[in-house]
Amino acid sequence: MDETHRGRITKDGIRIYEDADYAGMLAAGQVAAQILDEVAPLVVPGVSTEELDAFIERRVVELGTTSATIGYKGYKHASCISVNHVVCHGIPGHKTLKDGDILNIDVTVIKDGWFGDTSRMYVAGKLSRKAERLLQVTYDSLMIGIEAVKPGNTFGDIGHAIQTYVESNRMSVVRDFCGHGLGRVFHAPPNVLHYGRPGTGPVLEEGMFFTIEPMVNLGRPETKVLSDDWTAVTRDKSLSAQYEHSIGVTATGCEIFTLSPGNLFHPTYKV
Ligand code: MF3
Ligand code: CO
Ligand code: CO
Repeated sequence: MDETHRGRITKDGIRIYEDADYAGMLAAGQVAAQILDEVAPLVVPGVSTEELDAFIERRVVELGTTSATIGYKGYKHASCISVNHVVCHGIPGHKTLKDGDILNIDVTVIKDGWFGDTSRMYVAGKLSRKAERLLQVTYDSLMIGIEAVKPGNTFGDIGHAIQTYVESNRMSVVRDFCGHGLGRVFHAPPNVLHYGRPGTGPVLEEGMFFTIEPMVNLGRPETKVLSDDWTAVTRDKSLSAQYEHSIGVTATGCEIFTLSPGNLFHPTYKV
């Protein structure tokens, strides 16, 4: 990377970060991922989602970081917890988990000014066969999207890889929410769509930092936002799942900043 390259903004409004910035993103991403590891044993039938959020908020502080979501557009919690047919932005509350519930927990922390944003799926109690399939396909779709990340490919290539895989498994990709650039800000260009056509969209360059966070439904892709103005649910009430990593484009591919330190990211781990 030459000097004129550093700190540049592309014509699509995407910041090109410097080599030294990867370390800051990794440090932030690893805190978020560690907290998602630590919450895993607490996800059991009978626990409320606000108890899980309280644990997450405490750990964010204890690890010397700041929650990116508390105070963000009026949001009041350190996590989003999205249960069963909730697609994303579920608000932690007093409702308790039942045996077989699946849930996404999404945490974003700020460490030394860098944002680490990651989410993954959990199950309370016993995972049903159909939910297990949904989790596996959603996880695989994220990793297939990540495999398409290298300089010269486009954002459309990422979306196309995810969409093709999900639809070949007779599931649907949510269109109403997308991934995003991040770095020293939470949400920046581009919108990272989880569907698309090959060769379309901005070209990937070394130094781009963004999330990939596909939401996959067992039924139709349409969503609606509840009257709390946050909670997004599937219109047909079908189960929904999501996995999210924060990544940076490297010369040869990408670096995943939010890999699980305890290898607990995969849907079928045992704690
Ligand atoms: N972490 C979410 C994302 O992946 C954003 C949550 S914003 C909140 O972009 F306000 F709902 F927390
Ligand atoms: Co995100
Ligand atoms: Co997130």
